[in-house]
Order: sequence, then C-alpha cells, then structure tokens
Amino acid sequence: MLSGRVLRGVISAHLLAIVGQPVFAGVYLSGDFDALRWHAAGANVVTSIAYLQVIVAVVVWVRLRLAWPFTMSLGLAIAETVQYFAGQDGALWLHIPLGVFTIAGVAIQFIRIWQQPLRGLAPQPAEAPEPSQEPADA
Ligand code: HEM
Repeated sequence: MLSGRVLRGVISAHLLAIVGQPVFAGVYLSGDFDALRWHAAGANVVTSIAYLQVIVAVVVWVRLRLAWPFTMSLGLAIAETVQYFAGQDGALWLHIPLGVFTIAGVAIQFIRIWQQPLRGLAPQPAEAPEPSQEPADA
C-alpha cells in the first residue's frame, strides 16, 4: 500500500502546484510582468510532478494491479506537455482552454485517488479460518 500512499501525496502536490498557474497568469495579465517568471517556474514544477506521477502510477499498476491511475496520469502528462509548448508559443487560443481542462482533470483525479480504496486487485492476505464451534467427532 506504500505505492498508493505515495500516489496520493503526488496527486496532492500536483493539484496544489497547478492551481497556482491561473493565479500567476492573472497577476501577469494585470500588468505585473514578474508574475510571468512565476508562471514559467510553476510550469516546470507542474510538468515535473506530472512525469513523476506517471512513474508512481506505473508502480501502483505493477504492485496493486490497478491500471486507471496510470492511464489518467499519462493523459494529464501529455495534456500538460502540450500546454507547456502552447504557453511558450503564446498560443493562448489553445493554452487558456487547455489550462482550464488540465486543472479540472487534476482535480477529478485527486478526488478519485483519495475517494477510492487503492487496494486494487492485488491478492489480500488470507484470513485465518474461524475456529470451528462444532464439537470434534470422537
Ligand atoms: C488556466 C490556467 C492557465 C492560464 C490562464 C495560463 C495563461 C498564460 C498566459 C496568459 C501566458 C502568457 C502568454 C504570453 O504572454 O504570450 C502563459 C504563458 C505560459 N504558460 Fe500558462 N496558463 C495556464 C496554465 C499553465 C500550465 C498548467 C502550464 C504548464 C503545464 C503553463 C505553462 C506556461 C508556459 C511555459 C508559458 C510561457 C512562459 C514564458 O514565456 O516564459 N500554463 N500562460
């Protein structure tokens, strides 16, 4: 279950990091040009966490035999990579809507990962059999 706990920690950090991005963008668009540096630094943090999350999700898949965290994490990592290059290119027609979708995606994944038990399909330790109440045959 350690891998499940690590995944919960990583998705929490991911959500915390990504919600800062529209805030920095908004400060920048209000005329404080320093905020673009914060937004660019935030972009490096967010995408690094996204790639780390893919690695942790692979471990969860292998150890807990649970595939959906991996597929969701991979989808988000791809979306955030596109988001990164769209930001660098100044393609705001793509960057702003994709930013909204990726933040929604991370929030949905955060809820799913915290809501569902991450026991997965891994075999659980067998329970000890109840001692029989029946008197033993003589
Ligand atoms: C709703 C969320 C977001 C909004 C509204 C937003 C908005 C913006 C804006 C207005 C710019 C400046 C573009 C320009 O001046 O041409 C920008 C740049 C950028 N954004 Fe975002 N962004 C968001 C989320 C993200 C995320 C999640 C990432 C990372 C995956 C990211 C990565 C970048 C990068 C790398 C730049 C270029 C920075 C630079 O020129 O140094 N953004 N963004």
